[in-house]
Amino acid sequence: STGVITDRLDRPMRDLRISITDRCNFRCVYCMPKTVFGRDYAFLERDELLNFDEITRLARVAAAHGVEKLRLTGGEPLLRRGIEELIARLAELRTPDGRPLEIALTTNGAALAVKAAALKAAGLTRVTVSVDSLDDSVFQAMNDVRFPISRVLEGLHVAHDAGLGPIKINMVVKRGANDHEVLPMARHFHGTPFSLRFIEYMDVGTSNGWSLDEVVPSAEIVEMIDREMPLEPLDPHVPGETAARWRFRDGGGEIGVISSVTKAFCGTCNRARISTEGRLYTCLFASTGHDLRALMRGGVDDAGLAAAMGAIWDARDDRYSEVRASLTPALRAARPKIEMSYIGG
Ligand code: GTP
Ligand code: 5AD
Ligand code: SF4
Ligand code: SF4
Repeated sequence: STGVITDRLDRPMRDLRISITDRCNFRCVYCMPKTVFGRDYAFLERDELLNFDEITRLARVAAAHGVEKLRLTGGEPLLRRGIEELIARLAELRTPDGRPLEIALTTNGAALAVKAAALKAAGLTRVTVSVDSLDDSVFQAMNDVRFPISRVLEGLHVAHDAGLGPIKINMVVKRGANDHEVLPMARHFHGTPFSLRFIEYMDVGTSNGWSLDEVVPSAEIVEMIDREMPLEPLDPHVPGETAARWRFRDGGGEIGVISSVTKAFCGTCNRARISTEGRLYTCLFASTGHDLRALMRGGVDDAGLAAAMGAIWDARDDRYSEVRASLTPALRAARPKIEMSYIGG
């Protein structure tokens, strides 16, 4: 019941994204708006979260099914107590042919300056850091908790020095909020080892009030940057990559664009997601997940768990971003979707 598995659209399971907390110390307007995630918001209780044994077990079974990369997400994953211990345990896992898994982390960077060295020592391979603006007032308006950009930039450099690279920077571009920061961001990271990725604002969850008018198409971004700093396209590094990559023709590194709205990449999507409470989701936009925690807490053995995971992936036919355009706003709104902070993007 183990071995590489493929879904209905012939896509393997290669990445496992694991959300390890639904909490975050930021309230980004496009992800956890304060109006929804206020003081009385009911986050998950401790015993509802998968514990480290359960997370490690799921990752081990997924590795037996062909998963080569783990990505820890949140909420903000660095808020999970003992994350270094979890990483150390995940770092012991191997692919069927004996290679360690890649272990990546997507973070807002707030705690990186403090934690980078310990994360590296535990076995973390690399980090991706969200940076939505270099301008303090714009950055603070986006994170909505008055967190200063200087601390994130410091964290970036500490992580780089600790060897947690190559580091990618994620910038979600929201029209009217930070689109005027696209060029300053490109200029800032041009000529550095950090690769900046521009992300089209997506209709994840149901609380961010998404509208298509607020999406800045990647083509517009590439054109804007290319006019000042000429670009040329790069071939994908690995199949199923989220970002289309472009290199600065002057040798100043590369950028990426993640175009889930204007140029969906479902055709090669090889990502499975585990929510904070142990549900397996076969798409970022899935309405329901499969409760693996219940199976584990009910005493299933490894063979049974592997078979369950295999059956879920075998039935997978998700391609939401490809069908989004054909949905009317009413149909889109009627569709239940999970929140970003619960599934980790
Ligand atoms: P790399 O391994 O560094 O390329 O990471 P990644 O791009 O797979 O993950 P990351 O957490 O950095 O996510 C970047 C952006 O892409 C976020 O906005 C995610 O929500 C989005 N994203 C990641 N995977 C998918 C996906 O399968 N579908 C869609 N629609 N968006 C995705
Ligand atoms: N659309 C696109 N990207 C988003 N992220 C969070 N919410 C959204 C959204 N609505 C990004 C975060 C982080 C990554 C995991 O997902 O900024 O970089
Ligand atoms: Fe927190 Fe990341 Fe969501 Fe911002 S995008 S609120 S940092 S989980
Ligand atoms: Fe994969 Fe769903 Fe994203 Fe398409 S929308 S790329 S199927 S997670």
